[in-house]
Amino acid sequence: MPAISQRARTLGTENAFVVLAEVNALQRQGRDIVSFCIGQPDFHTPKHIQDAAVDAIRAGRHGYTPSAGIVELREAAARNMSALRGVDIAPDDVVVAAGAKPFIGYSILSTTDHGAGDEVIYPNPGFPIYESQIRAMGAVPVPIALRESRGFNFDPDELARAITPRTKLLILNSPQNPTGGIIPRAQMEAIAEVLRRHEQIWVYADEIYARLVYDGEFVSIGAMPGMHERTIYADGASKTWAMTGWRLGFAACRALAPQFTNWITNTESCASQISQWAAVQALDGPQDEAIAMRDTFHRRRDLIVRLLNDVPGVTCQSPGGAFYAWPNVTEACRMIGAADSEVLRARLLHEAGVAVLADIHFGPRPDGEGQHIRFSYAASNAAIENGIARIADFIRRQTR
Ligand SMILES: Cc1ncc(COP(=O)(O)O)c(C=O)c1O
Repeated sequence: MPAISQRARTLGTENAFVVLAEVNALQRQGRDIVSFCIGQPDFHTPKHIQDAAVDAIRAGRHGYTPSAGIVELREAAARNMSALRGVDIAPDDVVVAAGAKPFIGYSILSTTDHGAGDEVIYPNPGFPIYESQIRAMGAVPVPIALRESRGFNFDPDELARAITPRTKLLILNSPQNPTGGIIPRAQMEAIAEVLRRHEQIWVYADEIYARLVYDGEFVSIGAMPGMHERTIYADGASKTWAMTGWRLGFAACRALAPQFTNWITNTESCASQISQWAAVQALDGPQDEAIAMRDTFHRRRDLIVRLLNDVPGVTCQSPGGAFYAWPNVTEACRMIGAADSEVLRARLLHEAGVAVLADIHFGPRPDGEGQHIRFSYAASNAAIENGIARIADFIRRQTR
C-alpha cells in the first residue's frame, strides 16, 4: 500500500462532526437525545432567497462564474460589509467562496510560507479549523488564551508578548465560537495599538457572526485607524440567513483579493452560481426574516443562560453574540466525580441523553480557566428546557 502523507495523517478536524456522528448512531439505536452540538440555524432559508436560487436554475444561470464571484454579489457584499463595519470596501476587494471557511486556509497560505517558521496567533478556545489549517499549511500555531474573567477576551499585553518578528497573521473572531464572547471597542482599540507597532502582521477578522449581536455593538478591527489595509474581513451567508448548506461566503481585502481568486481557481473554481444569486437576494432583499431569526436567538440566549445558572455546579456568563453558551462546569464535574469536562460530556450524552461539546474540542484548556462545555442554542425553547432539565436532574442524582 503506498504511504499516506504525514500532513494528511496529522490533519486536525472539527470535533462537532465527530460527536454528531456519535449522536446520530445513538439516535439510530432508538435513544432519545437532545442535541446542542451543531452550530447552524434551525430555520429554513427565507423564501425570497430560495426563490432567487430557483429562478437562477430555471434561467440557466448555473454554470461556472469568474473565480472571484459574480459582479452582482461582489457589489452587494461590498455595500453590505462596508455599511456594517463603517469601512470602505470596493467590489473588487471582495472574493466569493464556498463558505467563509475556505478563507481560513487561503489566508494562511497567502500570508505564511511552509516550513519557514512563520507564526500565526489565534484564540484559544477557538474554532478548531484555525489550528488545524495553520499546522497543515506548515506555519507555527501560537494560541492566545481567552479568559473568563475578561468576558472571554485575551489580555492585549499577552498579545504584545506573543508577537515575534516571525508573526505573520493574527486571527480574531468576534462574536466568537465557542464562547459567544464579543470583542468590545476598547479591547479592539488596544489590539490595534499593539498591531500598529508591528507592520508585518495581517489580521484575519472572522466576522461570520457579525449580524448576531445581542448586547453592545459589533466592532471590526478594520475600522480602527491604520488597520483596514491589512485586515481580511471574513463573512458569509451561513449564519445570518440560515444558509449553511448553500456554501456561500465572502471575504474582503484589497491586497489579497487577487491571491484569494487564484487559490479558488486552483481549488473549487468558483462558488455555486445558484448560491451566489441566492446570496444577492439575502444581502439586498428584505431583512425581516433575518431580524426575526436573530431576535429568536436572543430570546433563547436569555432562556438558556437563566436555566444553566440554576443547574447545580454550573455558572454561565451571558454571551453577547453568535448562538453559543459556554458555561463553567468545574464545580459540576467535582460534584459528580467527573475527572474533567470531557468525562462530563460523555456522561451527559450516554446517561442523561444530552449532546454538547467539551472545551478540549476547541483547543487545550488554558491554565487556570477551569472546565467548560459548549451549547449551541440553535434549538427550540422546548429542546432547551428539556435538555437543561435533564442535565440538572442528572447532576442532582449523581452528586456524591
Ligand atoms: C468561527 C467560524 N468561522 C467560520 C465558520 C464557517 O462558516 P461557513 O459555513 O461560512 O463556512 C464557522 C462555522 O461554524 C465558525 O464558527
